[in-house]
Amino acid sequence: MKNSIGSVLVCVGISLLGIGLAEASEIEKGKAFYEEKRCSLCHMIAGKGGQVGPDLSGIGSRRDRAWLLKFFDNPKKVANANMMPVKGSTEELSALAAYLLSQK
Ligand code: HEC
Repeated sequence: MKNSIGSVLVCVGISLLGIGLAEASEIEKGKAFYEEKRCSLCHMIAGKGGQVGPDLSGIGSRRDRAWLLKFFDNPKKVANANMMPVKGSTEELSALAAYLLSQK
């Protein structure tokens, strides 16, 4: 009996670790995409980047995923922002949102 509870706990532990790792790699992909798209020409994160657009360091505390995905599609309509829509695959945009949401 003790053993089976132990195994269940180990299984739960491993799946949580799995989710953690999947999330970490999503954030890494988003960071790479952010660099590829040169977002830092206009935005600062943690003190690095340009000042044309707002500092995105705390963006994860100000915005949520749904807002970001809508914003990427049409910055002008969503925030009246003078910024080009962000073009990319669903996976790339989703990873980009995960990366920005990790900036708290
Ligand atoms: C040519 C400059 C420029 C580039 C390049 C650029 N942005 Fe922006 N961005 C802006 C400006 C300007 C604003 C909004 C200013 C305003 O509020 O009117 C903005 C706003 C934003 C906001 C909204 C912030 C908020 O909370 O209101 C996000 C998120 C954002 N940009 C993400 C990105 C990402 C991700 C990239 C790269 C794919 C990117 N930007 C590339 C200029 C730029």
